[in-house]
Amino acid sequence: MRIKTLLLLSLFTLQCSIISATIPTPKSRTTISNQECTITSDMLLTYESSLEPLKDYILEYLPLGNSSTNSSSNNSFTIGCDSTLALEAYRLTVKPNHIEIMGGSYGGVFNGVQTLFQQLPPEIYTKQISLPITIEESFTIEDIPRFDYRGMMLDVARTWIGVDGVKRKIDLLSYHKLNKLHLHLTDDEGWRIEIQSHPELTSIAGFRGGDSPVQAEYGKWDQKYGGFFTQEQLKDIIAYAAIRNIEIIPEIDLPGHSRTVAKVYPEILCNYKSSNTASNGCDLRSAWCVAKESNYTLLEDILREVCQLFPSKHIHIGGDEVNLSQWKKCPDCTKIMKDRAMTDPHQLEDLFIARATDILKSYGKMPAVWDEAINGGGLNTKTHVYGWQNVKACLKATERGYPTVVMPANYFYIDMRQGKHDVGHNWAATIDTKRSYSFDFVKEGFTPAQMENVIGLEMPFWSETYTSKDTDRPDYLDYMCFPRLCALAELAWSGKGREWDFLNSKLIERHYDRMSQMDVTFRLSEPKIDYTDGILKVSVDDGSQIYYTNDGRTKPTAGSTPYTGAIKTTTPQLYQFRNYYGTGEGPISAHSSFYKIITPALKFTTTMGESTKTPYSNIEKYRTFARTLRACRKGDVATYTFTNPLSCREIYLQTGYSQLAKSIIATGDVEISRDGINFEKAGEIEQGSATLYDLKGIKTIRIVSTYNDYSTNFVVIHMPRIKR
Ligand code: ACM
Ligand code: ZN
Repeated sequence: MRIKTLLLLSLFTLQCSIISATIPTPKSRTTISNQECTITSDMLLTYESSLEPLKDYILEYLPLGNSSTNSSSNNSFTIGCDSTLALEAYRLTVKPNHIEIMGGSYGGVFNGVQTLFQQLPPEIYTKQISLPITIEESFTIEDIPRFDYRGMMLDVARTWIGVDGVKRKIDLLSYHKLNKLHLHLTDDEGWRIEIQSHPELTSIAGFRGGDSPVQAEYGKWDQKYGGFFTQEQLKDIIAYAAIRNIEIIPEIDLPGHSRTVAKVYPEILCNYKSSNTASNGCDLRSAWCVAKESNYTLLEDILREVCQLFPSKHIHIGGDEVNLSQWKKCPDCTKIMKDRAMTDPHQLEDLFIARATDILKSYGKMPAVWDEAINGGGLNTKTHVYGWQNVKACLKATERGYPTVVMPANYFYIDMRQGKHDVGHNWAATIDTKRSYSFDFVKEGFTPAQMENVIGLEMPFWSETYTSKDTDRPDYLDYMCFPRLCALAELAWSGKGREWDFLNSKLIERHYDRMSQMDVTFRLSEPKIDYTDGILKVSVDDGSQIYYTNDGRTKPTAGSTPYTGAIKTTTPQLYQFRNYYGTGEGPISAHSSFYKIITPALKFTTTMGESTKTPYSNIEKYRTFARTLRACRKGDVATYTFTNPLSCREIYLQTGYSQLAKSIIATGDVEISRDGINFEKAGEIEQGSATLYDLKGIKTIRIVSTYNDYSTNFVVIHMPRIKR
């Protein structure tokens, strides 16, 4: 019995003794000796009383039997503060019968705890690990972050994400020593924070669709959907985050992106009625009038409650994408410009932000803004600027002396897709983890003086396509976040200077296993696919298992045929692959022949009229898309007539923007005809698109709308994608 236990124990010890590939990389690690440290359940957790919440946190993950604020033991795990260390720095020492984490503050000790966790088996993240665990050698890690601000932005305004979702995200960020969660709480599509003096902001604007004056979520159509945080819930989130060394930076997006608040209080606008049309995340014209004194009373009501609720020094007040057109037309706004000899309407934004800043200052706070807000030239230089538009905007903000959070969209926007055929937007770039990790301040032209003004890095996740794009994928958020956030953590904590292989090998060696135990649906790199001399070869370098289908249409899953070696085939265009590892998954991928399209001559006609700016000749020449003159109503028809009878393996008919279920024919029948007179139903439109397979001798294909769309002004019609 005893021998068996010992045998099991030593097997377990062996399994757990791999020295970790820590992410983010610690500054230094010194081996003390090859003596191992075994964490046993009778190890005493000794803590300073100020670290009590952290003691409880550690015990959630590690089942140590005893803890104490003052006793000593010859088998102890000690956490404490050392004022000679920088606030977030720590020193982790692991020796036989002794673990010690000293930090410059609570946050420093927390960071040390995360490093310790990464020295343990990945099962630590399940909170169900059993002891003993052996760490194979004695060492010291001394570590300090490069930047004070290491953050993620979560847009809970466009798509509602509730308390549990936000807490889960906080856990995942904290495992990577990311220390800021910027909560985008309001936007044109939703107001998600209870303001007790104005409950209608959330009771009305916290919901979309149905009888709400706020447009339905894309893909949810008439369904009423949404929610908001009560102040009690936000207090709970703030406390939960603080235990995990995360500060919540709330954002009330002003003076633009204010359609929801304008739906509740139309009088905040200049003389402009907010558009009722669903938009790509924004109705840029809904900006608060700068001239109306009553606006600042409402603003004070809102900001007072925000300031009283959130402990953060900085409150983000937006400032992005303000369309100046309404101000330029407003007699009151233009009078202000004249009276104050303003030459540029951006100065009106300066004035609005200065008024908001006065309110914030009266509650002991300072503003943070998006980078356009520096354009008027009068922004207080203590304001934190979030540089999002591009690198140039970040360079400009740092040059002008603003403490800047760097997040150029073309490296850091994680609502962007990660591969050419993957899910997500692509207006800024296609951004995989490697690209994010390649961001290099020196190569981008930041001087040492400008670097002094960089306070950190952030990755924002904008959520307008979150639920609607792929409703059978509730884990879309994870997939978009990881491992890109690992790259962010590495850049923001340890800095650049290493090649992609350095991070990639750590991901593969250890972190994929950790993320699996965290239950994160992380994205794997897609397989490499080669077709030469009739042989289709697919390879991965991360140990993931590849599965495939070969009928040209069925999407591969982990239940499809496993790929075990080269495939001999004359039809590589029919194969689709997908790789899986732990809880991670790759995008669906295929050989280039799978994506190849043919362009048979066709004529497009419709009952919905034609936009002269984007005419149907675009579709007929297989160039991008065209627009109708108006949105669809039941019975409207869109018709593709082929010059020669069409025979093909597949035809994909798409309405609406790519990756965004907007300006679409939401539901409809797809009918085909061999003579252009008699039609038969061949499919249905789902979320704006339909795919038909194996057509023979077809003269005409038409979409007959079964949907009345009052949420948009036109339908976008794409060129058909036809595969031979
Ligand atoms: C932004 O993407 N409008 C900050
Ligand atoms: Zn005005």
